[in-house]
Amino acid sequence: MSGSESSAGPSAPIDVELPFETLSWVGGLDGHVTMLEQTFLPLREEQLLVRTVPEMVDAIYRLAVRGAPAIGVAAGFGMVLGIAGSDRDVLEVARETKKTLDASRPTAVNLMWATAKVLSKLESLAGSSSQEELRAAAFAEAMAIYEGDRQTCRTMGLLGAELIQDGATLLTHCNAGALATAGIGTALAPIYTAHAQGKRVHVFSDETRPLLQGARITTWELMRAGIDVTLITDSMAARVMSEGKIDAVFVGSDRITRNGDVCNKIGTFGVALAAKHHGIPFHVVAPLSTVDPYLDSGKLIPIEERPASEITEGFGNRTAPMDAKVYAPAFDVTPAELVTSIITEAGIIESPSMTGIEAALDRGGVQ
Ligand code: MRU
Repeated sequence: MSGSESSAGPSAPIDVELPFETLSWVGGLDGHVTMLEQTFLPLREEQLLVRTVPEMVDAIYRLAVRGAPAIGVAAGFGMVLGIAGSDRDVLEVARETKKTLDASRPTAVNLMWATAKVLSKLESLAGSSSQEELRAAAFAEAMAIYEGDRQTCRTMGLLGAELIQDGATLLTHCNAGALATAGIGTALAPIYTAHAQGKRVHVFSDETRPLLQGARITTWELMRAGIDVTLITDSMAARVMSEGKIDAVFVGSDRITRNGDVCNKIGTFGVALAAKHHGIPFHVVAPLSTVDPYLDSGKLIPIEERPASEITEGFGNRTAPMDAKVYAPAFDVTPAELVTSIITEAGIIESPSMTGIEAALDRGGVQ
C-alpha cells in the first residue's frame, strides 16, 4: 500500500549507510577520481581510476559511471581534471573541457548543468582572481556539487518515504539508486529511507533492456542493502501490475521539462501507461538539477541513440542476424499527465504542470 502513514512516523531523520560508493575524488587539486566500474557488475567489484578528461569522457560514454546525478558529479570532477592538468589559461581550458565533457552523452541534463556551474563560477571570479585561485575555485565547486548531490538524495529520500506504507510493494525501472548518484539514489532513496525507518518494503526491478541496469545494478544494490527485491523482465511489468502486486512505481529521470514531461530510460513510458491503466501511482524522484529550465516540452529533449551492437550482441552474445537493421533510442519521454508526482529536494510536485515545476524551481533558488 502506498500512503502517507508509517509505523515509524513521518520524516524521522535517518542515516542510510550503504556498503558501496559510486564515485569520489581522491586527494587535493592534483588528485583523481575513483569510481565503481559499473560495466563489470554484478560479476566483479573493481575501482576505475580516472585521471584525465578523455578518460572521464570514455567512462561516461561506456556507462562505467551512469545515472543522471552521478554523470553530473563525474562531469564536475572532469572539469577539475581538465583545469588541473593544464598550464594554459584556466578559463580557456574550462570552456574547452566543458564542450568535450558535454558531448559524452546528450540526454541527462545534469551533465551540462554541472559543467556550466563550474564554468560560471570561474567566469564570475576571473576578473579578480589569480590562475591558482581559479583552479582552487573549480575544485571547491566540483566538491560542492558532490556534497550537494549527497544531501539532495537524503532529502528526497525522507520526502518520498512518506509516500510508502509499511508492507508496500513497489516497481522500479533501470537504476535510479545509489549507483546513479553520489548519495543514496533518487528513486531508490525513499525505499532505502523507508526500510531504515523500519517499514517492510518489497521491490520488483525491471531488468531494463538492452544494457540490463535493472538486473545488473538495481537488483545488485538492493540485495547488498538487504532490501527484498524480485527481478522481472521489462515485458512482465504490466502483467505483475494486473495481478495486483504493485502499490506504486518509483523511477528516476534524466531530464524533466518545464511542463512536467519526464525523460528516463527507454521503457519508462510503457511502465507509466501500464500504471495509469491499473490506477497505480507513478512517482518520479529527481533533483532540481534534472529539470531543464530552457525546455518547455519533452518533445525537445535530445534522445541518445546507442550502438546497434548493444542490442544485437549485448554482453558478447549474438542474438540477432548479422546486419539486422536496428533502432536504439536509449531514453523515452513520459508525458506529464501520466505522472502522479515528482519528488524533488524542494518538495513534492503533485500532478506536475508548468506552475508546479516553476514553483519548485523558485523554492530551490533556480532561475
Ligand atoms: O543509461 P543510464 O544507465 O545512464 O540511464 C539511467 C537512467 O535512465 C536513470 O533512471 C536516470 O538517469 C535517473 S538516475 C537517478
